[in-house]
Amino acid sequence: MSIDVRPSEDPAKYLATDQLVWFGEVTDADADHLRLGLPADQRFVVDLPDGPDDLHSGIYGVRPMEMSLPGGAVVPIAGLTWVGVHPDARRRGVLAAMMSDHLTRARDAGTAVSALHASEAAIYGRFGYGSAVLTHQVSLGRGTTFTAPHLEDEVASLTTHLLDMAAPGVTERMRACQLAAAPDFPGTIIGLPDFFTLMAHETPEQLRDKEPRRILFARRDGQDVGFTGLRREHKWESARPSGTVVVGTFCGGPAARLALARRVVDLDLMGTTKLENVGVDDPILGWVGGPRGAGDLKTWDSTWVRLVDVEAAWPLRAFESDCDVVVEVQDRYAPWNAGRWRLTAASGTGAASRTDSPADVTLDVAALGAGYLGHGIGGLLRAGLVQEHRPGAYAELARAMRTTVAPEPSIGF
Ligand SMILES: CC(C)(COP(=O)(O)OP(=O)(O)OC[C@H]1O[C@@H](n2cnc3c(N)ncnc32)[C@H](O)[C@@H]1OP(=O)(O)O)[C@@H](O)C(=O)NCCC(=O)NCCS
Repeated sequence: MSIDVRPSEDPAKYLATDQLVWFGEVTDADADHLRLGLPADQRFVVDLPDGPDDLHSGIYGVRPMEMSLPGGAVVPIAGLTWVGVHPDARRRGVLAAMMSDHLTRARDAGTAVSALHASEAAIYGRFGYGSAVLTHQVSLGRGTTFTAPHLEDEVASLTTHLLDMAAPGVTERMRACQLAAAPDFPGTIIGLPDFFTLMAHETPEQLRDKEPRRILFARRDGQDVGFTGLRREHKWESARPSGTVVVGTFCGGPAARLALARRVVDLDLMGTTKLENVGVDDPILGWVGGPRGAGDLKTWDSTWVRLVDVEAAWPLRAFESDCDVVVEVQDRYAPWNAGRWRLTAASGTGAASRTDSPADVTLDVAALGAGYLGHGIGGLLRAGLVQEHRPGAYAELARAMRTTVAPEPSIGF
């Protein structure tokens, strides 16, 4: 049975379907929220003939976003979000139909890459998304010492300033910082101005027992050079203050990050600083002397990347070493990618072209997504997840795609 996916015409029904699937608290402000960062023409729905009457059988949405790639290009991407299938309609192919629809629309719009944050790790690999960025969550004690001798001169020229995220002009400044830093931190994803407004918009219900999100800026000569977001939580233990400050993604160069990190481990009334989103090559672990310099460290997947159009996506990024490999790409949901491609990189520049030559490597398109931002994919061969026909060909490909520094995790969207 073919499943029809079409643009949403009923914003209230679209929202109500999302609320059923995600079972969050329904607040008066949600209808306003809906309009932020998710353009009306980027909301799509499925109504199965025997599906629920009052709600959609499935919904998804696309945030128009930008992402920085190895080499520094900042390109438009489709930020897949709001994916939900009505509990009565699940496991009947609704998500599969929505994924085919999304990939076709993205390709038609000339968008070469789609990205998402996965609710469950098992869902998106089958649709050709690869886990492209890992992130750490790190806990640090009050007053943790950071050692970075070659950054000290630069740090000395920086000051830090705490503001409410909802204060006028703050989200614009955050977005400008992200755009400025993105080329040096491949994997950075930047939303439209509306998306930042969404992040800053916190309902009274969301703030019931919390302070509003604050933004800590790093500045040099009156100019913003970085920021991070934070929220403090009170806790008293044996009459002593031992609160936790939860800190979001860092943005800015190494010196700005160091100035910000020093400030967030030295806030009054706090005992613990929890850094929620630290890239695996983030300098912070070096500054504390390695993983055990942190009180606690957890790792999970951040951004998942999908090459919507292999031919268009491959040359957008730069490469740190050369390759010339014929790859048989398997792609069930974007059949225009399937078949044999000659993927080359020379002097940093990539090219993808169709070929009839025998394949050196056979892989699912998800493997190319996993390595697209520079994350190491060499281990997939040992894991039996890719197939090599010419010895050494996969290593050549994986080495060319890998970057010296692992890609940057993104802010959840
Ligand atoms: C995840 C969700 C969207 C799946 O929708 P669905 O319509 O049931 O999925 P489909 O019937 O199209 O399944 C397509 C394939 O994915 C598999 N699949 C779907 N959900 C899966 C899951 N959670 N874990 C593992 N596999 C899953 C199906 O088994 C099927 O496999 P097949 O191609 O081998 O037959 C739905 O369960 C849901 O809305 N969950 C809650 C919200 C959510 O997690 N959204 C994702 C946001 S990132």
